[in-house]
Amino acid sequence: MRSRVLIALGSAVLALSMTACGGEGAGGGGDTAGEDPADLSIGVSMPTQTSERWIADGTSVKEKLEAKGYQVDLQYAGDDIPTQSQQIDQMITQGADVLIVAAIDGTALSGQLQAAASANIPVISYDRLIRDSPNVDFYVSFDNYKVGVAQAEALLVGLGLRNADGSKGAANGPFNVELFAGSLDDNNAHFFFDGAMDTLEPFLDDGTLLVKSGQTDIEQVAILRWQQETAQRRMEDLLTSSYNDGSQVDGVLSPYDGLSRGIITALQNAGYGRSGADMAVVTGQDAEVASVKLINDGVQHSTVFKDTRLLAEQAVLAAEAFLEDTEPQANDTTTYENGVKVVPSYLLPVQTVYKEDIQTALIDSGYLTAEEVASGQAEG
Ligand code: BGC
Repeated sequence: MRSRVLIALGSAVLALSMTACGGEGAGGGGDTAGEDPADLSIGVSMPTQTSERWIADGTSVKEKLEAKGYQVDLQYAGDDIPTQSQQIDQMITQGADVLIVAAIDGTALSGQLQAAASANIPVISYDRLIRDSPNVDFYVSFDNYKVGVAQAEALLVGLGLRNADGSKGAANGPFNVELFAGSLDDNNAHFFFDGAMDTLEPFLDDGTLLVKSGQTDIEQVAILRWQQETAQRRMEDLLTSSYNDGSQVDGVLSPYDGLSRGIITALQNAGYGRSGADMAVVTGQDAEVASVKLINDGVQHSTVFKDTRLLAEQAVLAAEAFLEDTEPQANDTTTYENGVKVVPSYLLPVQTVYKEDIQTALIDSGYLTAEEVASGQAEG
């Protein structure tokens, strides 16, 4: 039943897009080489505007495509899966020539991708791999396993077990740590957690690191939709349930700055970092301005910087390649198996940012201004 509905939807979409383009190359994908960019349109579907990084991603992709003369339909889905599905359906019926999609739930878009394939529209999976579909044509992202490794290494550095150059640090432990992961429906959350756990495992195995809550499986520590409030609540619950005996949390593995801020609020409300008390070492990701200010103020320990401008550039190169009826250039053709096939990928490097790196990595590179870092607020 479901597949028949999908086939019907696919044909309807195809019929509509053919009408929209009058049988020419423009509209509905395929055979677009040599077209005037002004006649080509790219649908860009982003998950949410509650996180700065997705706003930066959307803006960069749109600006870079428009600078090349393409039409761009940029939509944000408010972290709501049906909204994202509808927005993509609409991009297809309106005759998009390429789709760039950062999925909310990586497994929820097979129907949309089938419709796109039926209409010959190439799909670029943006940062988060779309799973369980043969119709993902290319993937642009960062080295997500290394993000997790970087987060775990930063935690070890913060606790003094390692020096920043990887050598053994002055501290011996044992230390109490708690672990957080991202949303289970986001493929990246698993890569981050795997990279982190592979790095922390020897320290957990020999007792240098203790997880007092006992929660070490990704299912136990995941935060649905990467919500800051959910992370704050989980940290509050952990403090009440596992640290009500006078013991301290020394470090928290956090995979995203938004979660880190929730975790930090919970810790501060419990007295950490207040009146001379120590703050736990809290990691992060994305170099969000509010967190960079916290790092600058010595509250959050670190973040992992992923330059979304470079990611946008790769997405634009991939879109252009498809519009010229060629294949985008991949630098990884083995890692990202989506449940149906290995998706050719272009992966970018990542960089750990401690307080002393803010100037060179973020300000000198023009990613943030000194004023933004000082105020913790993004400029309009
Ligand atoms: C991205 C991270 C981001 C997270 C929450 C992940 O898919 O790779 O950069 O922190 O989603 O938005």
